[in-house]
Amino acid sequence: MSARVRTAVFPVAGLGTRFLPATKVIPKEMIPVIDRPVVQYAVEEARAAGIERFVFVTADGKEAIANHFSHHPVLESLLAEKNKTAELKLVTDTTLPSGALQIVKQHEPLGLGHAVWCAWKIVGDEPFAVILPDDMVLSDTPCLKQLIDAHAKVGGHVVAVENVPREATNRYGILDIDTEQGRLSKAKGLVEKPAPDQAPSTLAIIGRYVLDPIVFKELDKRTTGAGGEIQLTDALNRSLASVPFHGYRFEGKRYDCGSRVGFLEANIAFGLADASMKARLLPIIDRLVADARKSS
Ligand code: UTP
Repeated sequence: MSARVRTAVFPVAGLGTRFLPATKVIPKEMIPVIDRPVVQYAVEEARAAGIERFVFVTADGKEAIANHFSHHPVLESLLAEKNKTAELKLVTDTTLPSGALQIVKQHEPLGLGHAVWCAWKIVGDEPFAVILPDDMVLSDTPCLKQLIDAHAKVGGHVVAVENVPREATNRYGILDIDTEQGRLSKAKGLVEKPAPDQAPSTLAIIGRYVLDPIVFKELDKRTTGAGGEIQLTDALNRSLASVPFHGYRFEGKRYDCGSRVGFLEANIAFGLADASMKARLLPIIDRLVADARKSS
């Protein structure tokens, strides 16, 4: 029986270059999908999965992220004075309980693996979750909850995976599959961003992980990989001899908000998933598509 997963690490120190100039001043994670910043969806998913400690790995200029999850006394008292109860609830619901939010700084963007390593002292020697807010998942059961439930059965490292088109393998960490059982694929190896003809499978890691703390010891070696960065996938690969590694084919649909097209897709998908907007959105989408087809 594995220890309970109570801590989630949110690596949010990246530069967000694909969204410049929007990300010149605003952190990428604070750009909203519909009415809430992308990072809020990630935190809500973690809370729904029973996470109690929220560790943000941030960089200079990203203070807005921590502020978003803290009290805003001026706004709250203004809304209360005006009896804007529903709006006040929206604001206070985003506040994390005292002591639950922890910030660590990554002074240089040395890679995702390095960002996770920065959280070592706070996480300690227990299994923990990693959530990349860029990957948004629409599902009946929160994606992280699915992973935590699977982790309770098999232990070790359990990461969310999905099949991607072969031509896209060079954008993901890819599993070299050993055995498969239901939604779980046991891996005998991992490769970071392999060329399509070199990829051992098309099963790709997306931005949800439940990890054994042994990964910190591997990250501590500061070995660089693809792109000269300290890669989380490489550290996980090196720890395979010590702990089992499973990919979990989660139920749900993932949207890659780190790319411009994926971000637009997420806005449309989350809009259509909202009953208060769906009926008004559908004819708008139909009209836009018809107009675009006519003009192309
Ligand atoms: P990305 O590869 O999407 O990089 O990082 P990025 O900087 O956020 O965005 P682009 O590619 O420049 O547009 C994946 C995740 O890892 C975090 C990012 O914040 C993002 O959540 N990350 C990446 C760090 O926290 N530190 C790093 O050094 C690198």
